[in-house]
Amino acid sequence: MSQVKKKIYISRQIPQEVLAYLEQHLECRMWDGSGAASRAGLLEQLGDVDGLITSGGPIDRELLNRAPKLKVVSNISVGYNNFDIEAMKERGVIGTHTPYVLDNTVADLVMALILSSARRIAELDRFVKDGKWQRGIGLNEESLFGLDVHHATIGIIGMGRIGEAIAKRAVHGFDMKLLYHNRSRQQEAETRYGAQYRSLEDLLKESDFVVLMTPLTPETVHFIRKEHFELMKPTAFFINASRGQTVDEKALIEALQTGTIRGAGLDVFDPEPPSPDNPLLSMPNVVTLPHIGSATSKTRADMAMVAAKNMVAALNGETPPNVVSELRGLLG
Ligand code: DGY
Repeated sequence: MSQVKKKIYISRQIPQEVLAYLEQHLECRMWDGSGAASRAGLLEQLGDVDGLITSGGPIDRELLNRAPKLKVVSNISVGYNNFDIEAMKERGVIGTHTPYVLDNTVADLVMALILSSARRIAELDRFVKDGKWQRGIGLNEESLFGLDVHHATIGIIGMGRIGEAIAKRAVHGFDMKLLYHNRSRQQEAETRYGAQYRSLEDLLKESDFVVLMTPLTPETVHFIRKEHFELMKPTAFFINASRGQTVDEKALIEALQTGTIRGAGLDVFDPEPPSPDNPLLSMPNVVTLPHIGSATSKTRADMAMVAAKNMVAALNGETPPNVVSELRGLLG
């Protein structure tokens, strides 16, 4: 006898093969527009569903109240700062995410931000395209000089899996000296990459590239503030590929405007997208990207498949591979 399939809503389009996999197990409805379903559109879809696959947007009390049957929310992202953990605990709703599959892709992007900031790639690309490269301007032109990345000191704040993938590139590829700051010592990074643990203050003082990779949690909101920029070298670059809210953006803007630091490479903003009059958007020494850390076709497809497998396992009553740590207690 065939069982009635559980119902899910998918709030953005996912690759066909991932949808086909989900449909073998579940009854699926999927947002059919571009981007993601609006909040209002999403809330209208939740009355009868057991599961929701999403790539962001708050999973809060309002949403949970509109979804009386909801048992699982599967994020297509490693970050899950969109989960209201307390509200989900109270309602017994499991939350899953997509770690591991994106580590190398995000680490590649962080290296790209480091290289683009230090060697002024975006700025000088614009220079050439604007027709400013005239005869006589060449290799000796000091105004085009950047800073060396190789053999410089990188300081990684948040040495998780992505931090380690950055460490590997920085040390093995660019001979960089590696410092890190983390809640706990990471023996593996120390042994494999010669990572040296530092207090936050010492890391900021010593690094040429400060890379912020800490997840956004209530404890890491504005983790980097004015007093932290003041500790950095005036030649240093600040790189953020975690979440915009992990840094006090006003303090970052001030540090750049006053020459407290030399530049920044940013994949994330607070809010996203940034408002058109955000000063960061008109600073030539700041590289700005639209939150594309994991955005390659393969990695995004792999993430969608991991999210799908998390959902199917959870709704089948199995232990899904990637339940977020704060909600593991719900598995009984
Ligand atoms: C993630 O997976 O958390 C990336 O930042 C994309 O949201």
